[in-house]
Amino acid sequence: MTEIIDGNAVAAGLREELTSCVDTLTAAASRPTLATVLMSDDPASETYVSMKQDDCEELGIGTRDVELDTDAPASELFGVVDDLNADDDVNAILVQSPVPDHVDYREVLERIDPMKDVDAFHPENVGRLVAGYPRYKPCTPHGIQRLLAAADVDTDGKDAVVVGRSRIVGKPMVNLFIQDAPGGNATTTVCHSHTDDLTAKTREADIVVAAAGVPELVDGSMLKEGAVVIDVGINRIEAEDGDGTTLVGDVDFESAKEKASAITPVPGGVGPMTRAMLLYNTVKAASLQTD
Ligand code: GUN
Repeated sequence: MTEIIDGNAVAAGLREELTSCVDTLTAAASRPTLATVLMSDDPASETYVSMKQDDCEELGIGTRDVELDTDAPASELFGVVDDLNADDDVNAILVQSPVPDHVDYREVLERIDPMKDVDAFHPENVGRLVAGYPRYKPCTPHGIQRLLAAADVDTDGKDAVVVGRSRIVGKPMVNLFIQDAPGGNATTTVCHSHTDDLTAKTREADIVVAAAGVPELVDGSMLKEGAVVIDVGINRIEAEDGDGTTLVGDVDFESAKEKASAITPVPGGVGPMTRAMLLYNTVKAASLQTD
């Protein structure tokens, strides 16, 4: 029987643990607080940010919600980040990407206080991760480590293939998999759009993480029998019946399920864990700033 890894259930368990941490921190010091900054009219970005706000409120985490006009100068965004950096009541800052073209997102990331960088995208936090002593782990790959642990998948000594080399998922996933730490010690191959023979690589893998942003890229014929399959994709495509759109992952779920020993669904797999790990990092930020 193939195990369908229930991201909603694993995330709910973590959120419950975090609620008591939030209560303790709030009683002992101050309420953990996340500031989100949105400079976009994109409905998907607006939805993501409002979900992050709702998640915080559910746990008792404080929120700040800054919205900037998309035609505001970059200096206005930098000013907002500077003010949030200086605000002792704010422990965590997240600037939702993408930002408008006239703003250099790299400059934004480098401006966020690394102690408040709960995305873990600041070069100092990326460097610490690569060097093997992460402060914060990026939310999606950290969530995947938690999902694998919850499904009793030991990564130690396994062959892992990560499909996709994004800054947000692929690169940090590889770094976490190769660390000499729980959830790591996997022999890891990273594949991307220039990989010559993707199937030859995925067929060797005990664990496949599909994070390429290509709808249903990985199907059952590309998997070894018994592989563990983690689907990071969130792709909106035309529905087969021509009636609106439908959400699919980077994995063709039906065929992959026939080969896999365990697999995450879309939705309800990696997505809820990414959201939960942002709450985890926010609590961690508050705790680090309290010590
Ligand atoms: N846009 C899409 N995913 C993310 C994320 O994880 N963090 C931020 N800041 N922006 C995003």
